[in-house]
Amino acid sequence: MNKDSKIYVAGHSGLVGAAICRVLVEQGFSNVITRAHSELDLTNQSAVRIFFAAELPDYVFLAAARVGGIHANDTYPADFIRDNLLIQSNIIDAAYQNGAKKLLFLGSSCIYPRLAPQPMKEAYLLTGGLEPTNEWYAVAKIAGIKQCQAYRRQYGFDAISLMPTNLYGTGDNFDLENSHVVPALLRKFHDAKMNEEDSVQVWGSGNPRREFLHVDDLADAAVYLMRTYSDEEIINVGVGEDISIRELAELVADVVGFSGKLLFNTSMPDGAPRKLLDVSRLRNFGWKPNISLPDGLRSTYVWYTETLANDSGTVRT
Ligand SMILES: NC(=O)c1ccc[n+]([C@@H]2O[C@H](COP(=O)([O-])OP(=O)(O)OC[C@H]3O[C@@H](n4cnc5c(N)ncnc54)[C@H](OP(=O)(O)O)[C@@H]3O)[C@@H](O)[C@H]2O)c1
Repeated sequence: MNKDSKIYVAGHSGLVGAAICRVLVEQGFSNVITRAHSELDLTNQSAVRIFFAAELPDYVFLAAARVGGIHANDTYPADFIRDNLLIQSNIIDAAYQNGAKKLLFLGSSCIYPRLAPQPMKEAYLLTGGLEPTNEWYAVAKIAGIKQCQAYRRQYGFDAISLMPTNLYGTGDNFDLENSHVVPALLRKFHDAKMNEEDSVQVWGSGNPRREFLHVDDLADAAVYLMRTYSDEEIINVGVGEDISIRELAELVADVVGFSGKLLFNTSMPDGAPRKLLDVSRLRNFGWKPNISLPDGLRSTYVWYTETLANDSGTVRT
């Protein structure tokens, strides 16, 4: 990838896409192109074909997807499976048909079997049943991985697939209805501090262990792997360490400056006891994260208080 290569970031307004754009600009890539959802609906095959034929991007980061939590997946299973299959299939095919040099597809750790041994190796893909609450999304993502592999095998198209762990950071969604655990905790503790409450309720027992990667690190890994990795095997992107939700909540309370009590609501479900990616392949390819969890939480909290804290929580920069 040269500094003047034409690079299309699909989903540039999202958490991941925006971070990839930031990293590309920071690293001096001068020809990054984007289209807003309102200008180009990626589920529309003919619109996607026209866009690629006109722009002929050399490199494609596929960070557009219909993304949501358990509730959204459960309520809109048809929308999740249809939109994700359409978006990824349209982009992968149009990139290949229009001579793109390389495409990077983003999957997710939810593609691994529900009962996969921990930490989860890439080889565990398709070795067991999926978590039923998000299987619509996971099946679409697995189809995207397979489409990348098939285009590589049949057409020699250089398509790679990354499986990121749980992400957080600048641009995250702080809406308490459907946010992930890090922004949800930052917001709850912030609100409690502002309202001078003496306790905060945290969902579940606090015992499950999870892994968290700052989205700027994920974006750095994505650009690194776009430049260096060319293989049909998927590659996990994470930190290789996990933390209990209780420890995370204590860390967030500290970052926010909330000194009250943490109450764990054990009537809420815990989910899997542990979800950790095995990142040894990524390490062997020469990449490791730079942003520690405390530092990442601090900068995310600063961003939240400076940009969103007075809003409903869903506004994006
Ligand atoms: N967030 C995580 O923790 C995490 C973890 C692992 C993997 N990932 C993967 O990373 C990728 C991006 O996730 P994210 O968290 O950045 O999601 P996000 O913040 O919801 O961003 C999704 C992006 O896709 C765009 N988009 C959705 N439908 C579209 C359509 N029909 N046409 C055009 N654009 C469309 C959105 O634009 P609008 O907002 O304008 O609709 C937005 O720019 C996904 O593949 C996800 O599986 C995320």
